[in-house]
Amino acid sequence: MTSTLEPKSMGRPLTRVEGADKVTGRAPYAYEHPLSDPLYLHPVLSTIPHGRVTAVDTSGAEALPGVHTVLTPGNAERLADTEDREFAVLQSDEVSFHGQFVAAVVADTPETARQAAGLVKVDYERLSHDVVLTADHRGLYRPVEDADEGPSADTAQGDVEAALERAEVVVDHTYSTPTEHNNPMEPHTTTALWEEGTGHLTLYDSTQGVHVVRASVATVFGLDPERVRVVAPHVGGGFGSKGEAHAHNVLAAMAARALPGRPVKFALTRQQMFCLVGYRTPTIQRVRLGADRDGRLGAVSHDAVEQTSTIKEFTENSAMCSRWMYAAPHRRTTHRIAALDVPVNFWMRAPGECPGTYAAEAAMDELAHACGVDPVELRALNDPETDPQSGSPWSDRRLVQCLREGAERFGWHGRDPAPRSRREGDWLVGTGVASASYPHMFNPGSVAHVRHDGDGRYEVSIGAVDIGTGAWTSLTQIAADALGRPASDIRLRIGDTAFPSASVAGGSSGTSSWGTAIVAAARAFRDRHGDSPEPGAEASASAAEDTVDEGYSIYSFGAHFAEAWVNADTGEVRVPRMYGLFSIGRVVNPRTVRSQFLGGMVMGLSMALHEESYRDPRYGHIANGDFAEYHVPTNADVGDLRADWLDEEDPRATPMGSRGAGEIGIVGSPAAVANAVHHATGVRVRDLPITPDKLLR
Ligand code: MOS
Repeated sequence: MTSTLEPKSMGRPLTRVEGADKVTGRAPYAYEHPLSDPLYLHPVLSTIPHGRVTAVDTSGAEALPGVHTVLTPGNAERLADTEDREFAVLQSDEVSFHGQFVAAVVADTPETARQAAGLVKVDYERLSHDVVLTADHRGLYRPVEDADEGPSADTAQGDVEAALERAEVVVDHTYSTPTEHNNPMEPHTTTALWEEGTGHLTLYDSTQGVHVVRASVATVFGLDPERVRVVAPHVGGGFGSKGEAHAHNVLAAMAARALPGRPVKFALTRQQMFCLVGYRTPTIQRVRLGADRDGRLGAVSHDAVEQTSTIKEFTENSAMCSRWMYAAPHRRTTHRIAALDVPVNFWMRAPGECPGTYAAEAAMDELAHACGVDPVELRALNDPETDPQSGSPWSDRRLVQCLREGAERFGWHGRDPAPRSRREGDWLVGTGVASASYPHMFNPGSVAHVRHDGDGRYEVSIGAVDIGTGAWTSLTQIAADALGRPASDIRLRIGDTAFPSASVAGGSSGTSSWGTAIVAAARAFRDRHGDSPEPGAEASASAAEDTVDEGYSIYSFGAHFAEAWVNADTGEVRVPRMYGLFSIGRVVNPRTVRSQFLGGMVMGLSMALHEESYRDPRYGHIANGDFAEYHVPTNADVGDLRADWLDEEDPRATPMGSRGAGEIGIVGSPAAVANAVHHATGVRVRDLPITPDKLLR
């Protein structure tokens, strides 16, 4: 075991270092950077899900005063690389989904651009389309596997079918989750500036990864990455949808290149975000559990059916969580996807683990009920000694402690296990539990730079991005401890490709990956310059490949508890209490980590009860693509919400002793709510969201 940093700044609830700038409006978001003479882009989106553009009449738009250009498939520049078809904007007349870019107007004002976009007339030839995923879809296939990239689509150990045959108790159910959209508060936005003469492209972007966007945009336009700068000092949420560039970045850059010297601002409208920036696939998951009468698992089988787009494949790894969660000698997981005439799906809030754990933990609740075993104890009974998939020892698996201590703190004990056993006036009351896990993800290679600036402060630079998680603050704390200085001595610089290369703020890997680079750079600095450095002293280092101890299975864990009140007459569901207890290694900043957990738990509540994007099978568009009809919880929907964590450190995970914390709050929380609703009502809704109609059926 390697030693971790001595925590002096880490572990303190430092308030956000950028907080004052944010609340006073001095923190610029992508649309707000002060640039002179901006132009505004408004796109035209396809109104068919599949077919061809046969004609684009731009005369009405071009006649409007203030319009600078109208880009169409006919006049847009040919891109250098169109292999990634999500980025092949305006490169052909093909329409592959409803809401695809088919033209764009750039004008003096946003109002003019929008009005002109409405005047562009597009004719189409329609082809037949398919936008509906079913469990037996004819197009289902096993996703393409890239041995270097992702995990295998399928796994099998032992003989699941025979074990299910023999099992005394079998649970076999199909759970489904709908299409869901990320919906960060700050819409996806790019301000693009192509400098005449130098040929430099600058994007002020709302992204989870400035270097990621730079790499994609440079490739698409055939530019040396050194000529592309991406700037994102502050980002108003991402939740995965800003984890890569999307077509809007290409469109904005294309417009900027057509109008050099003028910044082109492009903020997607809320409605456009339902077409162009990723979403969570609907999932149809069959979970089969075979156990003895006491609830000891013999077989776990988890089969996920999902969709992707025809232009780019993305697989949500929903069944993966069943590979490591519980002990069982016979196990199987599969993923099958169908490519539909829909937009490209992508990361959304714990992609894979989130919907997968909903299904798996709802099934565990059904097993507890079938065996007459307490749901907390059922999970403890099946806790594996070692990683059931790899056989590796756990670095630090404290799921059972989270479950048992969480149960204590939540007030689980004394619960009558019978569904519909508690009533308060018109309300049926129940409680539910679910386990949570999330892999420790670490992206090696991020680079940090430390410089002593002469007035006693240390400038620490890395191209990391704070998407609202608290990275500005937690990285400052890590740098402080790594340099042996107080946090007030650290001047952090992030959110710009002008700083050293950094990995994406995704997969709950940011603090682990960037923090490790900062620790390495601080060590290099102190080795070279000692603790009384000369002004101007500097050093760089990167996060090493071998940071994570490969001999161990490393995950974050948690236990979620929820109390649901369901109106016996109307089916309305209220959730007055949610509690989560987590195990994530060392907590770098309790204030921002708690905020991450609470945010995740609200998203879990949201997934359980509210969120659903309805794709109209006739036209292929999302019919409820705005906040009037795409429901998320408001303050009135969220009750007493609490999150705690175990006091620990995990030196096998990172030199800070921390593991990922960003996404585990949403993993498991939807199942805890769903299980509480079942306990309250005796009705098992296996199709999210749990709306009143499903409870009254
Ligand atoms: Mo997160 S959904 O991996 O950006």
